[in-house]
Amino acid sequence: MTLTVYIPDDAAALSVGADDVVAALQTAAVSKNIDLTVIRNGSRGMLWAEPLVEQVTDKGRMAFGPVSPEDADALLDAMVNDSDHPLSLGPTDEIPYFKDQERLTFARVGLIDPLNLGDFEANGGLAGLKAALALDPADICGIVTESGLRGRGGAGFPAGIKWKTVHDQDVDQKYICCNADEGDSGTFADRMLMEGDPFSLIEGMIIAGLATKATQGIVYIRSEYPHAIAKMQRAIDVMEEAGWLGDNINGSGKAFSLKLRKGAGAYICGEESSMLNSIEGKRGTVRSKPPIPAIQGLFGKPTIVNNVLTLATAPIILARGADFYKNYGMGRSTGTQAFQLAGNIKRGGLVEKAFGVTIRELIEGYGEGTASGRPFRTAQLGGPLGAYVSDDMLDLPMDYETLAQNKAMLGHGGITVFDETVDMAEMARFAFEFCQIESCGKCTPCRIGAVRGRETVEKVLRGEDVARNIALIEDLCEVMTDGSLCAMGGLTPMPVLSALRLFPQDFDRAPALAAE
Ligand SMILES: Cc1cc2nc3c(=O)[nH]c(=O)nc-3n(C[C@H](O)[C@H](O)[C@H](O)COP(=O)(O)O)c2cc1C
Ligand code: SF4
Repeated sequence: MTLTVYIPDDAAALSVGADDVVAALQTAAVSKNIDLTVIRNGSRGMLWAEPLVEQVTDKGRMAFGPVSPEDADALLDAMVNDSDHPLSLGPTDEIPYFKDQERLTFARVGLIDPLNLGDFEANGGLAGLKAALALDPADICGIVTESGLRGRGGAGFPAGIKWKTVHDQDVDQKYICCNADEGDSGTFADRMLMEGDPFSLIEGMIIAGLATKATQGIVYIRSEYPHAIAKMQRAIDVMEEAGWLGDNINGSGKAFSLKLRKGAGAYICGEESSMLNSIEGKRGTVRSKPPIPAIQGLFGKPTIVNNVLTLATAPIILARGADFYKNYGMGRSTGTQAFQLAGNIKRGGLVEKAFGVTIRELIEGYGEGTASGRPFRTAQLGGPLGAYVSDDMLDLPMDYETLAQNKAMLGHGGITVFDETVDMAEMARFAFEFCQIESCGKCTPCRIGAVRGRETVEKVLRGEDVARNIALIEDLCEVMTDGSLCAMGGLTPMPVLSALRLFPQDFDRAPALAAE
């Protein structure tokens, strides 16, 4: 009897015992005389079902999860006999959480063996790069602009315009820098992509190089991602050996080489100019703009800084065309977004949907509400600098403009859910504390403002002169918003002010209550 199963070696699956499940299945297979082939894939993004084991059958891939080593015996029996098993989730493609997703950037993640170039190509990989190799650089920039693709790192800046700016610089050396620092709380999409489909990021970076005539690329990955770093390095080696990286990309006469750089763990090194300083071996502090990196970036040369998902989405746009991509989404938010459900949520994971899906559909539909079972109170959208939303905002569609009109932001697509037990005054304190710890220290509103902000919220928490101190916090937020050099200090007021605006009762501390 032969059996083939897929089991992720993605960090999220490993953290809940995927390697132990593999070992247990292999031991059980030997005792049952089953010829078992285990393929390690990326995660499908259903983190609530990890470790997810998928059996390859004539009817497609059948999912079981979350599997523990103790399940190995019975699971193999069920697979061999095609019989029921309590952990059966049915055909993977039919799992409701997965079925209605619109996976473009993540189409291959969890489907393929991430380091198998043949598998990658058989599932649409390299098609975008081959198309780009036949185009003029300006035309590649034009297609990306036409698609409406916006940067997925937070600010949503149009990728095509950035690429064209670099393209237009008439200098010998240019760079493509991929921002894989992924410091935002509740986000894991970049990691999942790099671990599950690293070739797609490399393909996107080569396309960006062709579009701008940049011959060198650097992927800046946070040190907390050892599995992603290892996977990306192996993927680069495979692409080099296959001739897709190097001096002569697939015999085209065009060159592009790629290196990895490891970040040391500062949130601010995700800010693009800090990241460039860090890559140059300097301390990760923010550079004043102008000049923007597209004009003077790495080592003073024109540089594209793009997020992992921005770059990994370029191949599908080149392969399927700008119209295909922009038909997804709403308004100026074209295409799809990798929403990441985290925090106090029953079914955490990654949901790729066209922009326009509502917050409610994500939290209550896919996420099935809070993990604690207590009523939902709030969610923070877009990482630690993002705004909180209240339950009467749940029907807002996820698109950059609608969220901005409602004083919120989409950021990197992370959604961190909280139940009714959250204390929003504490969360406001935490926002300032986070900024205090992570500030690069270059400008006063952020460096000093964060400390004073934390101290003032602590006074409110103690019930000291509450109204006056809240007014002070609001003033301070205005100074930080207007006077900070970068979005670290500039956006810290977002979580603070949204907490104050939406949940004023949490700040209404009487001294007696505070003393309890
Ligand atoms: C404090 C701070 C942290 C950031 N962290 C990240 C990050 O981890 N990853 C990222 O892609 N962008 C991050 N950004 C945004 C980058 O500065 C930059 O806008 C982005 O990498 C550009 O790529 P995109 O156009 O593809 O979004 C951060 C910005 C700030 C202000
Ligand atoms: S806002 Fe904060 S992180 Fe940004 S430059 Fe100023 S001190 Fe540095």
